[in-house]
Amino acid sequence: MPGLAYVNGRYLRHDVAAVHIEDRGFQFADGVYEVVTVQNGRLVDEDGHLARLGRSLGELEIAWPLDERVLRLIMRRLIRRNRIRDGIVYMQITRGSAPRDFKFPKRTTPTLVLTTRRMNLEPTAQIEQGVAVITIPDIRWKRRDIKSVSLLPQVLGKQQAAVAGAFEAWQYDKEGKVTEGCSSNAWIVTADRKLVTREPSNLILNGITRQSLLRLAGEAGLTFEERPFTVDEAMLAIEAFLTSATTYVMPVTRIDGNPVADGKPGALSRKLREGYVVYAASDGAHQ
Ligand code: PDD
Repeated sequence: MPGLAYVNGRYLRHDVAAVHIEDRGFQFADGVYEVVTVQNGRLVDEDGHLARLGRSLGELEIAWPLDERVLRLIMRRLIRRNRIRDGIVYMQITRGSAPRDFKFPKRTTPTLVLTTRRMNLEPTAQIEQGVAVITIPDIRWKRRDIKSVSLLPQVLGKQQAAVAGAFEAWQYDKEGKVTEGCSSNAWIVTADRKLVTREPSNLILNGITRQSLLRLAGEAGLTFEERPFTVDEAMLAIEAFLTSATTYVMPVTRIDGNPVADGKPGALSRKLREGYVVYAASDGAHQ
């Protein structure tokens, strides 16, 4: 079933939906995006994702294409019309379409596209057994806090991971410290049972799942530290996992081919995942 896509005010059949060839998203990757999970027909962490979308737009001086409340309605309509129970809503906003010229065009309306996709949120083999990650140098620009559609380094990193039979590639900086995954945040649990994930800065995307999980961990009385960790430290961790809207909490059981601890998902990662799934259900309950 092709389903519907929302493109600049119209609901179009997904297989024929299109934007103009002069769109600045296509020409310059001059745009931003968000991925929001749908669990049981409800949006998870909607407020956080919309706040980050607003921030990304602001940093690039792209105007909101419409009122945020209308965007919330469009998301709901698309979920309903495409009958999405579990899955994602993808939203992309670009600076708009204009004859190719690097500087901002004077009068352009931003382009807004929304699509949905079904996704299985039930525990899969990957969650039961954990996934492998490889580590690669971070070759991205210095404004990774903006959720920009300029994702070529991540495309190359994910491809490298796939060729190596891994799920994700963890990128590291010049000092060998992990920044984040290509489409997820990176976490470890140290021998003294501290959760560690890199602090938000321009060097990582401040994941919405990351932020919610830190809040939940704090509420559960777990100790955590927001600081960089090296690839070497990750190799010695007792647990490792990654977070994103599409994976929630995903145990990492191999790093560059080496098992993390005994090579099985850790108890804390499992507990955090369960906690997040419950939170995700309750977060959407007010919608
Ligand atoms: N990616 N870091 C990067 C570079 C990401 O692209 C993502 C999300 C995250 C996790 O953020 P969040 O918890 O808000 O999903 C961290 C999305 C899922 C994607 O590009 O498909």
